[in-house]
Amino acid sequence: MHKELEQWVSEVAKLTQPQAVYWCDGSQSEYDRLCDEMVERGDLTRLSPDLYPNSFLARSDPGDVARVEHLTFICSEKREDAGPTNNWMAPAEAKAKVRPLFEGAMRGRTMFVVPYIMGPAGSPMSEVGVEITDSPYVVANMRIMTRMGSVALEQLGSDGAFVKGLHSIGDLSPERRFILHFPSEREIWSVGSGYGGNALLGKKCFALRIASNMAREGGWLAEHMLILGLESPDGEVTYMAAAFPSACGKTNLAMLMPPQSQKGWKIWTVGDDIAWMKFGEDGRLYAVNPEAGFFGVAPGTSNRTNPNAMTSLHKDSIFTNVALTDEGGVWWEGMGPAPAHAIDWRGEDWTPASATAAAHPNSRFTAPARQCPGISPLWESPQGVPISAFLFGGRRAKTAPLVFQSFDWNHGVYVGAAVASETTAAAQGQEVGVIRRDPFAMLPFCGYNMGDYFGHWLGLGARSDKLPRIFHVNWFRQSDQGHFLWPGFGENVRVLRWILERCQGGGAAVETPIGYVPAPGALDLAGLERQVPPRALEELLRVDRDDWRAELQSQREFFAKFGDRLPDEIARQTEATARRLGL
Ligand code: OXD
Ligand code: MN
Repeated sequence: MHKELEQWVSEVAKLTQPQAVYWCDGSQSEYDRLCDEMVERGDLTRLSPDLYPNSFLARSDPGDVARVEHLTFICSEKREDAGPTNNWMAPAEAKAKVRPLFEGAMRGRTMFVVPYIMGPAGSPMSEVGVEITDSPYVVANMRIMTRMGSVALEQLGSDGAFVKGLHSIGDLSPERRFILHFPSEREIWSVGSGYGGNALLGKKCFALRIASNMAREGGWLAEHMLILGLESPDGEVTYMAAAFPSACGKTNLAMLMPPQSQKGWKIWTVGDDIAWMKFGEDGRLYAVNPEAGFFGVAPGTSNRTNPNAMTSLHKDSIFTNVALTDEGGVWWEGMGPAPAHAIDWRGEDWTPASATAAAHPNSRFTAPARQCPGISPLWESPQGVPISAFLFGGRRAKTAPLVFQSFDWNHGVYVGAAVASETTAAAQGQEVGVIRRDPFAMLPFCGYNMGDYFGHWLGLGARSDKLPRIFHVNWFRQSDQGHFLWPGFGENVRVLRWILERCQGGGAAVETPIGYVPAPGALDLAGLERQVPPRALEELLRVDRDDWRAELQSQREFFAKFGDRLPDEIARQTEATARRLGL
């Protein structure tokens, strides 16, 4: 047994006063029993075993449907170490304020001890966490999202290090909701929410906010990135990692199915949300997906947009805040034809004539990654997969071209730092659809000062001459009439192919002030002539000086927030871009 773990568990039990303490072993029978109990209590609905075997629907409290960035804190000793983009509380003050919310919080409930591994079991890249929670819904989701139970205790041994995560749903009141991170103690406290990103502590809290601190200290990377393998017709697989803000299509890109016209090309999914990367002895960066499941945004997911996700979630899955059909199936906007009647995410009757959405815009599916038909044979490889390209991107109606390549590593880091995107429903309490700067898609997830984070990335430049090439993509550019100019989804493989060629030293390109864009004819558009006529392609790749004048102004204002914690190189790259644009 592990003394520190046992001691912590008994301290927490004393504080939270549960009726019982239960150590999870991660077995199927344990999962089945917990789910049965939740069904009996009315917390879960079992879906039709014919339509979705062994799958369940959960409805959350209507006020608890997304990550709460305004209630999420980095509790470093010094405010400057959390930086201007994080909420900060001093550790002692945070504990004094939030400890009372845990006092007696589990009375009458079971306290679950959930040991889990982030990363493949036994991998030198993986880390152990233990979450204590009073939510069986969290336990069930953690079993899908991580390697959970005895396997984690075995990896931990009697004296291994682990990240402590304390979670209670409390009274679900937003006034008493806090998501606290203590980077130096490697500890997380979360109270008042049962929602995924706030409550499944392995995901954003550990694998990004705490792990970004570990990565900085250890010289590695913990990033909000999907990982995919692009297989060419000759059978060679090249791995890429891509950072887009929440609900901007990481899951769709990670599971892309090339259209008929792209014969011989195939995408292998390694991960859809988070990448941990370390240098191999050969100087290349190797990535593992620390997660074991997908916590994907349901609306918009369909057999047309993402058939692999639809297959992944067809059994052994948990759905949160989607609609329930009369046949005992699930439905969400964008899935296909609407049912004539359903029960909406709030539990009310719904018909296509209803004024409100059937599924919450941030409704989710939790599905085992192994069920994805395109899951990479190397997705659990202990040493990870070698990354050849980083892609950054966001949702931009204007300004950002379909794709461009950075000039070099430092310029690429600046491109990552300058990512901006239209906001989505993945976070609560913010307007949807407004542009916000979201460096590396890590704005809500970097557990320390992002100025230092840019410095960490810049510093990798000196560590190897085999670093991935850096690109920026934007599938969402629109015409002046507000139409998407690029078909997206499976057709995005055409852009990945150009990226691959660039990584291999080919791929014709034109230099622009912001980077290299595909030269005329360099993107394979065969069969897309009607959807993407030459005028549209020109617009997709155009660098508009007026748009970029405003963009650079917005970047300067954002970077200025970091004061002297902004690496000079980032300011230098911004001004070099302005000069190249003649601004
Ligand atoms: C997620 C998010 O859930 O980024 O992955 O919000
Ligand atoms: Mn995410």
